Amino acid sequence: MSLQEQIDLSKLPKHVAIIMDGNGRWAKKRMLPRIVGHNNGVKTVRKIVEFAAKLNIQVLTLYAFSTENWQRPKDEVSGIMTLLKTYLKSELNTLIENQVSLRVSGDISKMSDDIQKELKDAMDKTKDLKGLVLNVALNYGSRQEILMACKSLIDKGIKNPTEKDFEDCLYTRGLPDPDLLIRTSNEKRISNFLLWQIAYTEIYITDVLWPDFNEEEFCKAILDYQKRDRRFGKV
Ligand code: IPE
Ligand code: IPE
Ligand code: MG
Repeated sequence: MSLQEQIDLSKLPKHVAIIMDGNGRWAKKRMLPRIVGHNNGVKTVRKIVEFAAKLNIQVLTLYAFSTENWQRPKDEVSGIMTLLKTYLKSELNTLIENQVSLRVSGDISKMSDDIQKELKDAMDKTKDLKGLVLNVALNYGSRQEILMACKSLIDKGIKNPTEKDFEDCLYTRGLPDPDLLIRTSNEKRISNFLLWQIAYTEIYITDVLWPDFNEEEFCKAILDYQKRDRRFGKV
């Protein structure tokens, strides 16, 4: 039986979040510039989005650029931004064909006008599609998100907020919490990602570098997840 056939479709994670790490190391191993790693990382994104849509996963959140990633060398940052723009342009039709609805988590007002325009256009054209929600974390930082939510609560005059009030102020409003968080490249840390939302998320770390990640590796993560006993503090 293939790995995919071993997946119990009745126990699929509703929301999978991925810290796509290791593009730089993938390039370094080949003595190539880091941007080549990012370029190959985009190929993995295409594969995994299509595969997640096919598996009927409801939400896929991809950590694409953190609030801290601006501190990288200028040419790497601008290379990543160019890749993002190219991806949005070239993938929109495929997203629509696969019924994928695009969403963004993060402060995109800090991104260039043309990227904001591409993002808004893609979100607008896919907003009513009923398949996979592809939530891309862009200029995303969880601490900043939590602070933003606190400020929104103050603005709304909510003095005694519930968890629901708070969640309604997060970028992820309306989405279920991730069931499974995958981090590639073997780093055992969260790197300012979804700190509130992953309170009870199952974590899967693989040493596979993101450009080498594929459908099989995704199946391995889901199969591992399906063996977990999620207790949520109960017995
Ligand atoms: C992840 O790969 C992509 C982004 C953070 C944009 P890295 O660029 O962090 O790759 P490593 O960690 O240096 O290998
Ligand atoms: C996390 O990876 C951010 C993204 C994948 C976009 P980093 O490579 O930036 O994280 P650190 O620096 O290893 O913690
Ligand atoms: Mg990294």
